[in-house]
Amino acid sequence: MTLPAVLTDEGRLLELLGRMTLEEKIGQTALRQASGGRVDDALAHAIRDGRVGAVLNEVDVETVNTLQRIAVEESRLGIPLLVGRDVIHGFATVFPIPLGQAASWNPALVERGARIAAHEAAACGVNWTFAPMIDIARDPRWGRVAESFGEDPHLAGLLGAAAVRGFQGEDLAAPGSIAACAKHFAGYGASESGRDYNTTSIPDVELRNVYLPPFQAAVDAGVATLMTSFSDLNGVPCTANAWLLRQVLREEWGFRGLVVSDWESVRQLQVHGLTADDRASALEAASAGVDLEMTSDLYEAHLAALVREERLPLAVLDAMVANVLRVKLALGLFERPFTQAGDFAPAANAEHLAAAREAARETVVLLKNDGALLPLAAGAGRAVAVIGPLADAPFDQLGTWIFDGEARHSRTPLAAIRQLAAEGAMRVEYVRAVETTRSRAHDGFADAVAAAARADVALLFVGEEAILSGEAHCRADISLPGAQEALIQAVAATGTPVVLVVLAGRPLAMERIAPCARAILYAWHPGTMGGPAIADVLFGAAAPVGRLPVTLPRVTGQVPIYYAQKQTGKPATPESIVHIDDIEASAPQLSIGNTSFHLDVHPSPLYPFGHGLAYTTFAYEALRLSTAALAWDDALTVTVDVVNTGARDGDETVQLYVRDPAASVTRPVRELKRFDRVRLAPGERRAVSFVLTRDDLAFYGRDQRRRTEPGEFRVWVGGSSDASLGAVFVLRPAPESLSSSDSDHRLSHE
Ligand code: GLC
Repeated sequence: MTLPAVLTDEGRLLELLGRMTLEEKIGQTALRQASGGRVDDALAHAIRDGRVGAVLNEVDVETVNTLQRIAVEESRLGIPLLVGRDVIHGFATVFPIPLGQAASWNPALVERGARIAAHEAAACGVNWTFAPMIDIARDPRWGRVAESFGEDPHLAGLLGAAAVRGFQGEDLAAPGSIAACAKHFAGYGASESGRDYNTTSIPDVELRNVYLPPFQAAVDAGVATLMTSFSDLNGVPCTANAWLLRQVLREEWGFRGLVVSDWESVRQLQVHGLTADDRASALEAASAGVDLEMTSDLYEAHLAALVREERLPLAVLDAMVANVLRVKLALGLFERPFTQAGDFAPAANAEHLAAAREAARETVVLLKNDGALLPLAAGAGRAVAVIGPLADAPFDQLGTWIFDGEARHSRTPLAAIRQLAAEGAMRVEYVRAVETTRSRAHDGFADAVAAAARADVALLFVGEEAILSGEAHCRADISLPGAQEALIQAVAATGTPVVLVVLAGRPLAMERIAPCARAILYAWHPGTMGGPAIADVLFGAAAPVGRLPVTLPRVTGQVPIYYAQKQTGKPATPESIVHIDDIEASAPQLSIGNTSFHLDVHPSPLYPFGHGLAYTTFAYEALRLSTAALAWDDALTVTVDVVNTGARDGDETVQLYVRDPAASVTRPVRELKRFDRVRLAPGERRAVSFVLTRDDLAFYGRDQRRRTEPGEFRVWVGGSSDASLGAVFVLRPAPESLSSSDSDHRLSHE
């Protein structure tokens, strides 16, 4: 059972289904746009007739209650409505963008944020959110990387499951719980060239080992709904992909909730070139397993005829409707269709804002801190120049997908630093310097340079406005937009130490400007309370704990770049790498190259997945394994000593990576398998242990079957995917007694 146990009431479901007419059944497959604060007559009429079973984008609680009352009291069967909304990283209280939340590597933080968002949304009558978005994203040109939990299936799977638990709570039928929606199923993050909605070509093995695991984790966590991706997956758009929606999702994973299309993605099947007309598109999507059609009306127009002509079996339609009814029953909508706003705490209340501040604190990643410039002293006499458009951008700091967040609640970095200044008699001078992050004019530079020259430290708030990431907002060049690089270079030329604070919805390519800064904080789009959170870290009220959930490239041309890459047959080595500037004139063809690198940029990232500094330092020592030869059915304990070698308390996210150097399909050079955060006092040594079993070593092979293969494995433990402290162990073959299915050997490869 993958949905909450309350879904066992199948008898009630089938009894209701048995009373429904064909038209009423088709009505339950229709999800329609509401009219934002008013009851549209045509929609009311359709609901009353039983031709609409779900609405989206209505958040006025009285209007929602009116629509529910029409459905429950005026339609023949009284089936309540699903009320959907994109509650992606907060409702009124906006949390950091999901990519930022992923930088916390803290499932409990994600769960808490989702819980608060669910409460604020449920107070408005929303009972379904189109989140979490758990597409693996390894191409930051793609705007939707902002909504993702990053590049790694293990981390994204844990955080996606946490979001599901947060939205759905212990009891999906309880007030304040809303149905979650794992999206976009599947492989959307592989959109070619990082251009949104572009085609995806993903080998089945890659789909199984990288893009599908987070969705399976969400299903295992009991997610009530999934949404199909717009994208064409290997020639069959996800919205018509029966392999994905039936074989994988239903037959292999046992999913019993509902599948909703994305916005008009059923109609888009013809645009893709999969069908010749709407009728064919309706048949393809329904046959493939899409239960609910978002905003287009092809099901309403064609399913009745398709069923009557026996092109679409009635049993298929019944199963679609059953999936929708099952979610409505699980939500308790038949017992409690109406919302009493007074049952909920007010939105954006102090508790919620405090949680958003804590979340934003944990998402900030300290990339660089030369000379321990940070944390800054806020003492009297200190002069701080605050420069840049994003220091005072209450709307942009919220990030993408904030339909119900309001800039009026935002606390900006500038306001927070000015408040600190007032308390600490520090002098703060602010110069915006450029109007927006895209501005190309330099006429504001002089004031910025002058302010920096007068200051002890220059805090440069740079990055991207919110509009530059999110759906359909992709960039072919992911360096800092506008004149920001020139601004940074001009300010750095004063000699005043520069701290870069980057607010962005994606990894940015910063190789050119990183050397200009003594310290770099990556704060993503930090949400409503981003200002105080950033100030807390800058001035030491909180220490940075964030770790990169995505790789930061040097230049755009490296993309896609991610830590779990394949070795290739000719990996670059320090000896084989040659830089374009170091090539002699008339160099003979074979004098350089012949391994996997670019001539004009080093193959390493600017900052690797998992990287993040603290205000202290850590050492990893004495890595030891419980055994060097792991029996097939045993567990391996990996232990390492982590030592705080600095002078301050610090949090370290200890990460464990594994590699299978010889397998029946090539495996990544490293894969994250475990992590844990520890807090250590100065000088403190802590033994940190992780337990692995062969299941952690499993992968999908050429036959798309999940297997573990005996042989040598390598393990590393450290503070990022660059961890150097490693060990080797062997997984012994299964005892002969076990059936072959349980112990797929690589005998033919040994
Ligand atoms: C959009 C997005 C999807 C969202 C839906 C409803 O186009 O792709 O993520 O949930 O439409 O707004």
